[in-house]
Amino acid sequence: MSAKPVVIAIDGPSASGKSSTAQWVAERLGFKHADSGAIYRAATAARLRAGGAKDAAKWTEAEVLDAAKKRVRIVAGERSFTPEIDGKPAEDELRGADVTSCVSAVARMEGVRQWVNEQMRSVAARASIVVDGRDMGTAVFPDAAVKIWLVADPWERARRRLVQTLKRAPTDEEIAEETDRLVHRDAKDAKQSAQAPDAVLLDTTYLTQEEQVDRIVALARTVATRDAASG
Ligand code: DC
Repeated sequence: MSAKPVVIAIDGPSASGKSSTAQWVAERLGFKHADSGAIYRAATAARLRAGGAKDAAKWTEAEVLDAAKKRVRIVAGERSFTPEIDGKPAEDELRGADVTSCVSAVARMEGVRQWVNEQMRSVAARASIVVDGRDMGTAVFPDAAVKIWLVADPWERARRRLVQTLKRAPTDEEIAEETDRLVHRDAKDAKQSAQAPDAVLLDTTYLTQEEQVDRIVALARTVATRDAASG
């Protein structure tokens, strides 16, 4: 690919498999990966660490930004850019129940969105990258080389998420409950989520992860060949 860093943007609703797909695509292309949702989660975790109510409805944007700017750093690893909090990785905390219940409210704060977008643009200036989130192909990287809008049937998204967390086949009742949670989270995040007009819609309901990754890698290679030919 060209010398200028390349951006591949993968957006879509929660539990559509964006991050794992993005990681795998990045590995295949020799790019780094950055998950913007993890940075919203890190800002939320930073505010939780600052103390007080564990209720995001009571937080001000200024408090969240202050905690995020003091405590969160985006660190370059071998394969990805990931947020550290107070100088240490905090993956379990970022995926925990407290952060998950507060992060949607934090992601609706305009100043926090601007701060996360700055972090994403700054890492993309340093390396070719696969980014994932809700608005990477619209608000943050409108000129991304490849944009994917990754979707799957909510029932299937719920089933996949439960297989991951429970490490066994979930019952229909469990899937139904998780589906209900998922569609409500989608509704909360809807305002910030958008499919770019030039994004490729990829419905993974009936695809394996390998097939999804193959398609995105093929699209990236097509674009690289086209750009090389047009000089
Ligand atoms: O993908 P996730 O569950 O880790 O995202 C965490 C939260 O951040 C979720 O409420 C959606 C929000 N988000 C967003 O508004 N914009 C992004 N680019 C990424 C995530």
